[in-house]
Amino acid sequence: MSAPHPCVERSACAKVILCGEHAVVYGRPAIALPLPGLRAFACLQPSLDAFKIVAPDVSMSFYLLEHSAQTHDPLARVVWAALSWLGEQPPQATLTIRSTIPIGANLGSGAAVSVAIVRALAAWFGHDLLPAEASALAYEGERLYHGSPSGIDNTVIAYEQPVWFVRGMPPEVFNMPTGLPLVIADTGIATPTHIPVGAVRAGWERDRARYEAQFDAIAALVVAARQAIQGADLSQLGRLMDQNHVYLQQLGVSSPELDALCEAARAAGALGAKMSGGGRGGNMIALARDAAHVQQLAQALRHAGSTRVLLTC
Ligand code: MEV
Repeated sequence: MSAPHPCVERSACAKVILCGEHAVVYGRPAIALPLPGLRAFACLQPSLDAFKIVAPDVSMSFYLLEHSAQTHDPLARVVWAALSWLGEQPPQATLTIRSTIPIGANLGSGAAVSVAIVRALAAWFGHDLLPAEASALAYEGERLYHGSPSGIDNTVIAYEQPVWFVRGMPPEVFNMPTGLPLVIADTGIATPTHIPVGAVRAGWERDRARYEAQFDAIAALVVAARQAIQGADLSQLGRLMDQNHVYLQQLGVSSPELDALCEAARAAGALGAKMSGGGRGGNMIALARDAAHVQQLAQALRHAGSTRVLLTC
């Protein structure tokens, strides 16, 4: 009798977009950072039953065979994509998904779950996925979460390093030895990314020239942000974040709650502040002067109504 298959658990981190969101969908560069302290977990346990997917956090449970490989369920789609890539059939196992990443908060919860799933399945069959492989498989789920994603979320999460990302190109990963003193503050309003992404798409369809010019302006700003990071010029990076927020307001993806948190951060001495990710809710980010200023900024953001404040250092 063969030994029972051991349980396998793999995880993936959350992410935050530093600058360039939305324009990145249209081929402009963006910079994203991993948040290793917030994670999604996928655990495969042998069972005597058919392959089952269980997500207790969202009260979801179903057998994989209830969905074909063409399913519109992102979890099942990612599982089928991974099995097909591995050349395997669904194992006799239960896949349990848990996550500490808030859903609809622009922190990459969907992409993190997808990356954790493909890593766990690969490990079950004795493979270690390269970041590019995990990213490509997770993108299959991303397409179902929000239509035509740029791929930045699955990329930064699979690499778990800061990335310079241009759609369709290999990502450039880079190290930030000291990390940025960022405070991430949640409006408490969960907004699926496809809503603001769809709004920008509708605006772009109506007036391509205006939107393309706006995306070009964001691209120039992202290039300057990279230079500011390389030169450790936090004041300049903060000014660029403020400007990026204005461009995102003009694209119609900010919200009164995001604007209020950005204002509160600036009033508390932040070097810069902007919404981050899809917008219309979710999170904003503020750049503190230094690690000592982070706590003060966090306090000001809680005071201004943020429902959850995270620190990057
Ligand atoms: C979502 O984290 C970032 C967006 O630019 C969408 C995308 O890139 O697919 C809003």
